Amino acid sequence: MVNDGVSRRDFLQTSVVGASALTLGVTGASKALGANDEVVLGFIGVGGRGGRLLKGLLDMKGVRVSAICDLKQERVDENKEVAAQWKPKGYLDFRQMLDKEKLDGVIVATEVGNHAKCVVPVLEAGLNCFSEKPMDCTVEKVDSIVKAARASKGKYQVGFQRRYNPIFRDAIAKIHSGEFGDVYFLQGHWHWEWEVGGSSWVANVDMSGGEIVEQACHHMDVMNWVMKNQHPLYCVAMGATMSPKAKESPHEHITEDHSAAIFEFPGGVKFSYTHLFYCPKQFTGEQLRVYGNKNGVDLRMGNFYDSKNPDEPLDESQPNWDAGTIEELESFVNDVCRNGKRAVSNEDTGRVSTFMSLMARKAMYNRETKKFVPTVVAWEDMGSDLG
Ligand SMILES: NC(=O)c1ccc[n+]([C@@H]2O[C@H](COP(=O)([O-])OP(=O)(O)OC[C@H]3O[C@@H](n4cnc5c(N)ncnc54)[C@H](O)[C@@H]3O)[C@@H](O)[C@H]2O)c1
Repeated sequence: MVNDGVSRRDFLQTSVVGASALTLGVTGASKALGANDEVVLGFIGVGGRGGRLLKGLLDMKGVRVSAICDLKQERVDENKEVAAQWKPKGYLDFRQMLDKEKLDGVIVATEVGNHAKCVVPVLEAGLNCFSEKPMDCTVEKVDSIVKAARASKGKYQVGFQRRYNPIFRDAIAKIHSGEFGDVYFLQGHWHWEWEVGGSSWVANVDMSGGEIVEQACHHMDVMNWVMKNQHPLYCVAMGATMSPKAKESPHEHITEDHSAAIFEFPGGVKFSYTHLFYCPKQFTGEQLRVYGNKNGVDLRMGNFYDSKNPDEPLDESQPNWDAGTIEELESFVNDVCRNGKRAVSNEDTGRVSTFMSLMARKAMYNRETKKFVPTVVAWEDMGSDLG
């Protein structure tokens, strides 16, 4: 089972967003399940990620997938076969699935811009919902999920698997315990060799939010976690679409393929981040560093570096980006669906992380002129009616 490393007192002291959510409260799970009852799940969206999540459940005890929905019949058929041990029913319309099946929870793994339209009805049906990250790709749709989650009998979990990865959990618990000293700077990057673009939905900002939203949200989430869910006050960012494949994309708003963003958090803590594609292989990989006044933490590998040991070599190994996925699924099945607990990665943590990505995209791009123009975006400029 997974418990949140941040105490309630910490959370209330440091998070305006979190505090309001805790005060409003969320009611219990849709129905009480005994320790030996099976948790019954349905899927909406079984493309690349949905298929991966389904496979992740195959060997888990106490769970059964009874229904699989996708707009594409061949994906339904293919995944029914993967899950043949449970003989799931197939659906092309998720509302029919919700009407006909007796589910404890639903896993949503549609394209980012299709999250809210599936997640909100699931929560309105009083069911627990695990949805892939980020929450969605506009402020309004993210907020619609938050409102539905607060009103629902079911609970919402968002698929930021690093929150369930023991390496990150241990390192961030130590940071939060204070043994590391005060955090004053955060730094990260995720650099890839391949080219983004073409006609894929990820290249379409209206479906993905762009790469800074669809992909970099993982790292926004980690740094939001380090900062105990305090939202950033400002973001300044620059980006561009440079590679031939990206420039050829047919979409109205095309994803950036390289970007640099700096956030300022309360207390003057800065987070500097770059997200690049089309890089030399030697420059690729993931980096997440926390700088404190006593030592530095490499979050990816969970290593602490102390200025008293200046000759200690840096661990250059790369982490597995998928680590934490099995743990997040286990937590959804047992903590959320079976025991009615609030997810560690929930609508309040997920909202700040998703908004960080949306802030960066807004700061680098003018939608009216369709040009990459750097600006400073304040949290209030996001225009959320939830504050
Ligand atoms: N956590 C991770 O590390 C990770 C990794 C990859 C992708 N993702 C996320 O997973 C999500 C899905 O990405 P993907 O790469 O699998 O996309 P994909 O295009 O492969 O699959 C999306 C599927 O959703 C289906 N779909 C869309 N609307 C639907 C609806 N109304 N009803 C039923 N099915 C519907 C589509 O037909 C498609 O099969 C995205 O949010 C993405 O950001 C997360």
